[in-house]
Amino acid sequence: MGVRLFHLPVVLSLGLLIACSGNPEGEGPIVPPPPAPVEYAEKHMPSSWWEDAQKLEEGRKLFVGEANPDVNCASCHGKDGKPVKAGATDFRNPERMKLYSDTVWFWRISEGVPNTKMKGWKSKLSEDDRWKLVLFERSFGLSGKIWNVEKNQWVDVSAK
Ligand code: HEC
Repeated sequence: MGVRLFHLPVVLSLGLLIACSGNPEGEGPIVPPPPAPVEYAEKHMPSSWWEDAQKLEEGRKLFVGEANPDVNCASCHGKDGKPVKAGATDFRNPERMKLYSDTVWFWRISEGVPNTKMKGWKSKLSEDDRWKLVLFERSFGLSGKIWNVEKNQWVDVSAK
């Protein structure tokens, strides 16, 4: 009978895998994303960009596919941040979005989310372009906020 116990870890980790593998609507329980890996951990938005309307507009053009026809985030995430494909993260929900640092957003855009439709974009987009996308995305749910590196949280632009 003792042999059967060997299956327990397998069953447990399978269960965990299923529980963690995202959710079909993209609107399941709001849980913090995993931390970015070391090679991304120190990357942040160039601080002068947060209030740069030009960069924001460049981010919008990338997001909706105007800048580069190969890159169209809006085809899943929606022009206004309201998902048009099942499972795509809703960027309008500040409760969810504030759990993501600028670093985590940048990492996810670069590398994608394994086993989901969200692929990595680093081969198609320069670092600058990826930061412009972070800037645009943040305008849906966290408009007027910037990531404060020392405080490790989003703060009002006026409170920076
Ligand atoms: C083919 C559809 C599709 C396209 C195109 C797409 N995404 Fe996604 N994206 C998804 C899905 C699905 C998820 C949810 C993944 C998950 O379950 O965590 C997601 C999640 C994300 C997340 C959150 C990652 C996380 O940890 O939950 C960010 C940020 C993001 N996408 C940005 C972008 C940007 C920027 C682009 C354009 C360069 C883009 N996406 C293009 C489908 C897409």
